[in-house]
Amino acid sequence: MKTYLVTGGAGFIGSNFILYMIKKYGDSIKIINVDKLTYAGNLENLKEVEHRDNYKFLKVDICDKEEILSIFNTYDIDRVIHFAAESHVDRSIKNPEVFVNTNVLGTLNLLNGAKQSWETEDGYKKDKKFVQVSTDEVYGELEDEVSFFYETTPLDPHSPYSASKASADLLVKSYVNTFHFPANITRCSNNYGPYQFPEKLIPLMINNGLNSKKLPVYGSGLNVRDWLYVDDHCKAIDMVAEAGHKGEVYNVGGHNEKKNIEIVTMIIDTLLEMLPEEDPRRKYISHDLITYVEDRKGHDFRYAIAPDKIKADLGWEPETSFAEGIKLTMAWYLDNMDWMERITKGDYQNYYNEMYRE
Ligand code: NAD
Ligand code: TYD
Repeated sequence: MKTYLVTGGAGFIGSNFILYMIKKYGDSIKIINVDKLTYAGNLENLKEVEHRDNYKFLKVDICDKEEILSIFNTYDIDRVIHFAAESHVDRSIKNPEVFVNTNVLGTLNLLNGAKQSWETEDGYKKDKKFVQVSTDEVYGELEDEVSFFYETTPLDPHSPYSASKASADLLVKSYVNTFHFPANITRCSNNYGPYQFPEKLIPLMINNGLNSKKLPVYGSGLNVRDWLYVDDHCKAIDMVAEAGHKGEVYNVGGHNEKKNIEIVTMIIDTLLEMLPEEDPRRKYISHDLITYVEDRKGHDFRYAIAPDKIKADLGWEPETSFAEGIKLTMAWYLDNMDWMERITKGDYQNYYNEMYRE
């Protein structure tokens, strides 16, 4: 039975990943979820698995060296899937320090924990893997409308967030080069799907639309992001963990570029399509809610991933079209308005105290 150490498993992609893996592998794997439960961590996302014998939650800060070493000494970890991070660009512009602590120093602690527990006299224990879940933002921005990020594109991060992720990637690379450490790096484009914190574009617009609040579009609204349904990202991470060639970087994306204004417009149209005729919220939902606001500082113009390598080497393909994924996502938010309400009120943070009284 393989044991996974998933960091940041209470966040958006981490919780989707845990649910995806339990659905796929059932009782044949064990998952240890290590999360500090910052504002972005919500254990409610994992209600479905929290009572399983093959799932364990540990409230731990990845920056805590002793705790991390002790986890590696207690459990025989086969896979580290490292999601834990500060993940929001706007927050990184306001307060970069916590990004450096968690994203850079936290990653270093995990590398050291895994290295000391996996090392043998002549290399590493068999079949161990560290997956650094990174982002296409480490490549900086594309200034035109036609080129793509490849794994060979030079790192050129622009925001404190992407600079901290690039730094972490370079530390992972240095462990591969210096110590032959068994790691891979994945660099994915923007994810969307259930459980995404409503500070990010898609859930923010859905939530504001449903509450007849303005839809704040930064700058011209013409910036381009390349969107991937979260389960397709989870599938890619699982494939890389199993079959990724040692030390390699894999870009993950589904060729689904959209201008921000297209996304916002589509969210309004889809809400009107999905809400029943008698729903009182329909009255207030219209394109008039769109409000152009001051641009983000250093706003990257365009991201677009070339996923050729992961397709060719590992046979990964996205399975969910954007038309399908956005409907699934919006249906999930409409069915889980209480989740959104607890998030916006901050009540979700009481869940840990209720569930995991120490
Ligand atoms: P998120 O902000 O939703 O979740 C981050 C999780 O990490 C939270 O549960 C939080 O409590 C936890 N965490 C933060 N600091 C911690 C610490 N010091 N110790 C332990 N846990 C801590 O983020 P997300 O959107 O799920 O992103 C997950 C990872 O995927 C990140 O590394 C991010 O860079 C990467 N990524 C995200 C996207 C995207 O579109 N969201 C795209 C590509 C890559
Ligand atoms: P975001 O979801 O924060 O992801 P990232 O910055 O990591 O790509 O933002 C996606 C895009 O949407 C980005 O170009 C900024 C823009 N945006 C808005 O126009 N309005 C908003 O309220 C937010 C949160 C983002």
